Amino acid sequence: MKILIATEKPFAPVAVKGMKEVIEQGGHELVLLEKGTKADMIAAVADCAGLIVRSDKVDKEVFDAAKQLKVVVRAGAGYDNIDLAEATAHGVCVMNTPGQNANAVAELVMGMLVTLVRNRYNGTSGTELKDKTLGIHAFGAVGRNVARIAKGFGMKVCALDPWVKDEVMIAEGVDPVHSLEDLYKMSQIVSLHIPATDETRGSVGKGLIELMPKGAILVNAARKEVIDEAGLAEAFEARPDFRYIADVKPDNAAELEEKYPERVLFSPKKMGAQTAEANINAGLAAANQVVAHLKDGFNRFQVNK
Ligand code: 3PG
Repeated sequence: MKILIATEKPFAPVAVKGMKEVIEQGGHELVLLEKGTKADMIAAVADCAGLIVRSDKVDKEVFDAAKQLKVVVRAGAGYDNIDLAEATAHGVCVMNTPGQNANAVAELVMGMLVTLVRNRYNGTSGTELKDKTLGIHAFGAVGRNVARIAKGFGMKVCALDPWVKDEVMIAEGVDPVHSLEDLYKMSQIVSLHIPATDETRGSVGKGLIELMPKGAILVNAARKEVIDEAGLAEAFEARPDFRYIADVKPDNAAELEEKYPERVLFSPKKMGAQTAEANINAGLAAANQVVAHLKDGFNRFQVNK
């Protein structure tokens, strides 16, 4: 059977090589589409039984075209790019590869933080992270890795996550917080790790930002949709001390960069998971999951149950 890897932002070549081996050892043929358009994906998927993507959009048009498709694996954590209802309606199993790229995202969060608080290494005096309080908004795989690294910097770390027991956080040296308001009130720096869902879209804006202590920095390596961008712009106006870091540029990035060049730091393209290691981990996991699903219906990590 044919398995399509369709990635607008390609995996490292070493990851693709490993994925090809897994696919061929499973008795399948790899079809590789890198930096393609949606139309390219639609044409390529027509005779494929498996599909591996990253943040690439997989919607009704794709499912309608993919008459032989049985499984889609999002090589990564967030699957808001995949229309789960359409997948289910077309009888397609959708899985993600949770945790596989989490360390890469966490390292980028800390790297961007250092870059911002050291004024982009421009020769002026910056500030340190040691003894500052970092609030982790959602303590999943990425949040936990951020906490681990932040503790190495000597930061105090607290986290909010209704799905994680206090004991788990305490065992990792993290103070559990039980309300959003408290998390933002306590944390000079907040790092967002919530998925984009109907509940979280536009949920972080001026109201939460204005609760943060002096010198507030919000870091978003999650999804741009979770930010209320109008509220973000208002927060910049209202608080000259507020700074924003995003690995997922807001739509109003150009305006913010022009008005507040020293108070924002944006990556040009989503770079959190873009390391050889993360590509290998997530890519190989995805290839193995597709092959296992086609062999015997493997569906651990299915997200459209
Ligand atoms: C994820 O959800 O796994 C990350 O946001 C990485 O996304 P990417 O594979 O598009 O880089």
